[in-house]
Amino acid sequence: MATLSNNFIITCFILGLFLALTTVPLAEARAFFIFGDSLVDSGNNNYLATTARADAPPYGIDYPFRLPTGRFSNGLNIPDIISQQIGQPEAPLPYLCPKLKGDKLLIGANFASAGIGILNDTGIQFINIIRMFRQLDYFEEYQRRVTALVGEDEARRLVNQALVLITVGGNDFVNNYYLVPFSARSRQFALPDYVTYLISEYRKLLQRLYNLGARRVLVTGTGPMGCVPAELAMRGTNGGCSQELQRASALYNPQLDQMTQQLNREIGGTVFIAANTQQMHTDFISDPQAFGFASSKIACCGQGPYNGIGLCTGLSNLCPDRSLYAFWDPFHPSEKANRIIVQQIMSGTNKYMNPMNLSTILAMDSRT
Ligand SMILES: *[C@@H]1O[C@H](CO)[C@@H](O)[C@H](O)[C@H]1NC(C)=O
Ligand SMILES: *[C@@H]1O[C@H](CO)[C@@H](O)[C@H](O)[C@H]1NC(C)=O
Repeated sequence: MATLSNNFIITCFILGLFLALTTVPLAEARAFFIFGDSLVDSGNNNYLATTARADAPPYGIDYPFRLPTGRFSNGLNIPDIISQQIGQPEAPLPYLCPKLKGDKLLIGANFASAGIGILNDTGIQFINIIRMFRQLDYFEEYQRRVTALVGEDEARRLVNQALVLITVGGNDFVNNYYLVPFSARSRQFALPDYVTYLISEYRKLLQRLYNLGARRVLVTGTGPMGCVPAELAMRGTNGGCSQELQRASALYNPQLDQMTQQLNREIGGTVFIAANTQQMHTDFISDPQAFGFASSKIACCGQGPYNGIGLCTGLSNLCPDRSLYAFWDPFHPSEKANRIIVQQIMSGTNKYMNPMNLSTILAMDSRT
């Protein structure tokens, strides 16, 4: 355990050093805060006793120095690419990274933790992960630390002007409701009622985020969950997507969108910006070639049908060219796919971004 954590202190250090080479002055760009699950975790789980981690090769094979950092990607993840797009000198560090102190705090922080869901009982098999309520507790702690650093007014300004990204919900299906046949939640709720319950709990989390000072919050939905390589392999019928999980996505995503816009109406402003990640993924699943992918069904790294069984490890099949695959591992998009998703977040039409895209938000904020 001791050598393990030493390792990650070094990882964090190299990361900072590398990115410092391309640095522009600190605190010019707005701060960026990230909450959610493995789609946006940049390494918090490295510091926890959990099996939900991506800190060994081939994870990070296309990251600078081929470094496995805990990102569930071959290279950059969605927060990294958004961070670049908003002109940050470097991506916010994982909150548990010991290097996150002093001026680094002003860049923001990443609170996400692989395996978590909206509900506390999601991902219980991963044992020690940072559940949503705890991520928000850490955000409060973060604000106390920044207040000590720059004073109360400046700290509040930093948080109010920051961009926030939250990506959560997929695990409430795959690592809870559908984890085992006859799961506790599936005996408690019919699927539509479960979705209603999830949305009502998610709403409380977003409300708390607002109360903590967040004013621009990107809220992503899930992808078409039934079509990821893991589900094609485990539940798909004749090479098709899992109908049950597709049904779950089709119920969950539109209701999430509606709930965020309802919150905006109550607040009287555009705080929550919904990203239709289901549509973005569906685009490249239905026409992979249009996006330069050879496959949107087979994971680059994995084993079994569609490389969709088990984990991506050093013993797995590994594709030579990651940019030809929409999926890096059985559940997570490749860096290339992440870039396409962020492109849509930045400049997509209303079909993808509700009520507006991120470049419009950035332009609005720079005028005020
Ligand atoms: C999760 O657990 C925390 C701490 O016990 C609690 O405050 C919170 O209400 C719980 N959330 C849900 C959705 O049950
Ligand atoms: C999204 O962003 C682009 C700028 O990149 C802008 O031209 C476009 O009109 C925006 N679309 C919508 C629907 O807001």
